[in-house]
Amino acid sequence: MDEQIKAMQAEIEAAAASITDSKEMYLLRKQYLDNKTGKISALMKNMRDLPPEERPAFGKVVNVLKGWALDFFSEQDARLKAIELAQKNAAEQIDVTMPASKHLCGALHPQTLIANELIDIFAGMGFTIFEGPEIENDYYNFTALNTPQDHPARDMQDTFYVSEEFLLRTQTSAGQIRVMENAQPPIKILSPGKVFRSDDDATHSPMFSQMEGLVVDKGITLCDLQGMLDVFAQNIFGENVKTRLRPSYFPFTEPSVEVDVSCFACGGKGCRLTGWIEVLGAGMVNRHVLENCGVDPDVYTGFAFGMGIERIAMLKYGIPNIKMLFESDVRVLEQFRG
Ligand code: PHE
Repeated sequence: MDEQIKAMQAEIEAAAASITDSKEMYLLRKQYLDNKTGKISALMKNMRDLPPEERPAFGKVVNVLKGWALDFFSEQDARLKAIELAQKNAAEQIDVTMPASKHLCGALHPQTLIANELIDIFAGMGFTIFEGPEIENDYYNFTALNTPQDHPARDMQDTFYVSEEFLLRTQTSAGQIRVMENAQPPIKILSPGKVFRSDDDATHSPMFSQMEGLVVDKGITLCDLQGMLDVFAQNIFGENVKTRLRPSYFPFTEPSVEVDVSCFACGGKGCRLTGWIEVLGAGMVNRHVLENCGVDPDVYTGFAFGMGIERIAMLKYGIPNIKMLFESDVRVLEQFRG
């Protein structure tokens, strides 16, 4: 009897010796202690086959074995779980002194910053946004803007033609026609977008962006234009900035003006920026243009202006070369983080 018990103890110890995982140890425990299928439980059941006088002694011995096995397995379980916990802790250890990985954060491009600022300023004065197509036909880009085929002013803008009829728009002024064809005054729109010209140097790029403004209503004058441009210039460049209108020529405006702002660096006294800085072209909408769009020039007048967004960004931020706005050099761009 005792031998049978000892053999089973030895068997358990031998099997346990090669186990390094608490789950496997649990399975081994089940093999011996499971109420239904365990080998020790089976010994208890065997008791029925013994003569009654041997049963108490046998029961006692099996109970001792069972008690031993219970203790043995709980010790093994505790031992293995302690090892497993130590291994888990070692694996999950973190070095709080290690430098953190960098999370780079993007920012808006100066071009976008200026465009948003301009839209905010003009939206505050009641302008709504109109976006025209980048591929235009000759009529909208030139002819309807009082620049027919043989007009010398066509040479003012070197044009990329896509076909005889279609071209990459050279100016957002094309949007003026699209708006006036479809709406009667009062009209007050701002039209931002890309424009294209065969032109390339430190201050010109073959693709750049413009912001066009158009106001048409009864009694609109050049004074309204200048008053509104003052608000624009002061918001963008600083509250002491003044505007100055110089006579100029555009086929679609009459009179036409170039608009200068007083230097925000020297206040107009004269510096590297020459005291007055040209910022945009503008004028009263030419009556031929109004007529072309079905707006009666004897009832309505209007003004229009067009500015280069890159130019405004370069002036405001002191960017010397327009290429810097297209190269996406992070060292340049991160200086504009708001
Ligand atoms: N379209 C002109 C240009 O690109 C600018 C302009 C717009 C001038 C509206 C007058 C009125 O040079």
